[in-house]
Amino acid sequence: MDKIIRAGVIGVGHMGQYHVGAYSEITGVSLEGISDLDMERASPIAKKYRTKCYRDYRELLDKVDVVSIAVPTAFHFDIAKECLEAGIHCLVEKPICNDLKQAEQLFEVADKHNSALHVGHVERFNGAVQQLKKVVCDPILIESRRLGPFAPRVRDDGVVLDLMIHDIDIILNLVNSPLATLNVTGSSVFTNREDVVNVQLQFENGCMANIIASRATQEKIRTLAVTQEKEYIVLDYTNQDILVHRRASSQSELTRQELRYTQESFIERIFVHRENPLKLQLQHLIGCGTNGDKRITSVESELKSLKVALQVLRNLNPVSHIRA
Ligand SMILES: NC(=O)c1ccc[n+]([C@@H]2O[C@H](COP(=O)([O-])OP(=O)(O)OC[C@H]3O[C@@H](n4cnc5c(N)ncnc54)[C@H](O)[C@@H]3O)[C@@H](O)[C@H]2O)c1
Repeated sequence: MDKIIRAGVIGVGHMGQYHVGAYSEITGVSLEGISDLDMERASPIAKKYRTKCYRDYRELLDKVDVVSIAVPTAFHFDIAKECLEAGIHCLVEKPICNDLKQAEQLFEVADKHNSALHVGHVERFNGAVQQLKKVVCDPILIESRRLGPFAPRVRDDGVVLDLMIHDIDIILNLVNSPLATLNVTGSSVFTNREDVVNVQLQFENGCMANIIASRATQEKIRTLAVTQEKEYIVLDYTNQDILVHRRASSQSELTRQELRYTQESFIERIFVHRENPLKLQLQHLIGCGTNGDKRITSVESELKSLKVALQVLRNLNPVSHIRA
């Protein structure tokens, strides 16, 4: 019989709860315990999933093989370092840290202690993103929109580290060329950090990307559109859907009364296998940590997304983005 993998979750707030649910659905995994400073929040979750709950995460260290760390970003480094040093395979929620040196140090610690360390870029495991990689080969233009209403819960990170880092990660993995230039504009609406940001990237091969992230929009929109020479591909992350437009043609006809304009294209809907991306992500961590599976994203790629996100923040003029 295969060994049962013992799992835990540190921080069971908004995101951590999903990790608890996902572990509970993985065959061969036993949820050994959860930890949160807020025991009023953690106790009912522990009860629901029939597991133990601890205020101090250190109590979990000798009880688990893998752990998800979903505490606020500022605490990722200290907690992850301790878990990795204890030989525990870690899924640290994104952004891994808000400092590149600390992120690099965590990967060094992981290496030294033979612990797997993955970052919670869950969109990589979205079935539509997996399919997208098969259709996108030579993008000319990428337009990404991740907009939604303000959630008062998220105040520690601005919209770049909170939301846009997902799109940066996906785009860097789609474009096979080094980044050449980066322009940024942004504005603060509800917090003293950036809430709306527009980034333009240009890659050395000429590909351009325009990324908009907002947490000040009264509609949740998560889309990515790619222009290639022969296709226009539109991905909707929310319903995991991809449409590919091809052979577009347009006609205009001038009659006595009006000018009629028609546009046609062939639209193909790509079949996407809809699995829970978080569950797939945790299974991948377990496979890498306990079965020697090869990680799908290199450590360099993990760090590159953070590097570009931090560059965006540096280029964002701290004075100009505060709305008058
Ligand atoms: N991958 C994604 O799509 C995604 C989505 C949302 C949030 N996140 C990330 O997840 C992390 C948490 O965000 P959230 O929105 O869930 O925050 P949250 O505030 O809802 O939850 C954080 C929880 O951590 C607990 N906590 C704080 N310090 C602790 C400690 N020392 N030990 C144990 N528990 C502790 C808090 O009491 C709280 O319950 C952030 O890094 C965020 O960027 C990722």
